[in-house]
Amino acid sequence: MKYDSRYPSVADLKLRAKKQIPNFAYDYVDGGIDEELGKKRNRDGFDEIIITPRYLTDVTYTNIESELFDRKYSFALGVPPIGLGNMMWPGAELTLAQAAQSANIPYVLSTFSTTLLEEIADQSGDVCWFQLYVPKKQSVMKEIIERVKKAGFNALVVTLDIPVGAKRNREIKNGLQLPFRFTPNIIWQSMIHPQWALKTLMHGAPDFVNVLPYKEGPDQRLSEFISNFSMAGVTLERLREIRSLWDGPLILKGIQYGQNMLDAINLGVDGFIVSNHGGRQLEAAPSSMQTLKELPDEIHQKATIMIDSGVRTGMDVVRAKAMGADFSFSGRSFFYGMGAMGKKGANQVIEIYRDEITRTLQQIGCNEFKQLDRSWVSNPSF
Ligand SMILES: Cc1cc2nc3c(=O)[nH]c(=O)nc-3n(C[C@H](O)[C@H](O)[C@H](O)COP(=O)(O)O)c2cc1C
Repeated sequence: MKYDSRYPSVADLKLRAKKQIPNFAYDYVDGGIDEELGKKRNRDGFDEIIITPRYLTDVTYTNIESELFDRKYSFALGVPPIGLGNMMWPGAELTLAQAAQSANIPYVLSTFSTTLLEEIADQSGDVCWFQLYVPKKQSVMKEIIERVKKAGFNALVVTLDIPVGAKRNREIKNGLQLPFRFTPNIIWQSMIHPQWALKTLMHGAPDFVNVLPYKEGPDQRLSEFISNFSMAGVTLERLREIRSLWDGPLILKGIQYGQNMLDAINLGVDGFIVSNHGGRQLEAAPSSMQTLKELPDEIHQKATIMIDSGVRTGMDVVRAKAMGADFSFSGRSFFYGMGAMGKKGANQVIEIYRDEITRTLQQIGCNEFKQLDRSWVSNPSF
């Protein structure tokens, strides 16, 4: 077993993370929107998929490799963008990028990461993708895309599902605000989690280092700068401009509406991450699995389809592939791992998924991950 047997699943890491780190950091990652029913719906969407095992097959050898945009990855799970990543565990972003590089799986860096994009690309350029929150100012957008190109990122992911900031009740109650302030709750929580507090002190308070150069002078408040940084709704015109500035794979994330996908395909977008931001934006949004289930064949034929929001096990990655998503991403899995075990958590999560995907394929009698398709799904209603 290549992982610590005390935490054999993402669910175990989640329980451990809740004890190990301050509640404001845990809630930031774990929380959803409103009553958090959308987050639950995401999980239900995966749990619902039934796969009938096929026996009478030798499954000694299984191949879980997966190909995306003409590049082979060790298996079909990546780390999606998580803003303010170093708040959950100091140094999380660099640790995850390095772990992804050595495991040969994609790592997507957020525009609102707390580590410089140039530093991440330097450490993991081979598997690194960049996620863009499209800046309101075209000049800033051009400059960031230039930096991303120069740094050597492999793909550009444009996130659509935050037209405006979300009201997340757990964050409000915890007093989480910009710039990061030491309120009485945050001081108390830091005191009772001394390991986290010490590491944060050593590492420095997390900051939006990639976008700070574009702040309008020292007098502009950080909260105002960040909340006004991105476009209030990315337009097709902007997307067209991004396409003309970026030659590599262009992916849209957070997309849920078929017509949006067809319009984007016409502009030359290469792929989609079907996602609802992990149930953090719109309570009534369809689960990512429901969106995937309803995608017309035309979209599958013309673009690469990936998924996130609710993936927690290797079984989910197999379910997603059988339903038509070539690749899965899981944000909270990796951050529960880091919260539970610090640096070691990144590899723990990678090895749990590698093991679970392999075992699931063997259990269902499938030798090659890439052979999975809808014929494996036995829900009567599909
Ligand atoms: C704490 C947190 C921060 C996030 N920050 C970003 C971000 O900066 N950019 C982005 O495109 N998505 C962001 N997301 C969404 C994730 O990329 C991903 O879509 C989501 O985590 C998937 O759901 P899951 O956590 O259930 O796997 C964030 C998600 C979480 C939990």
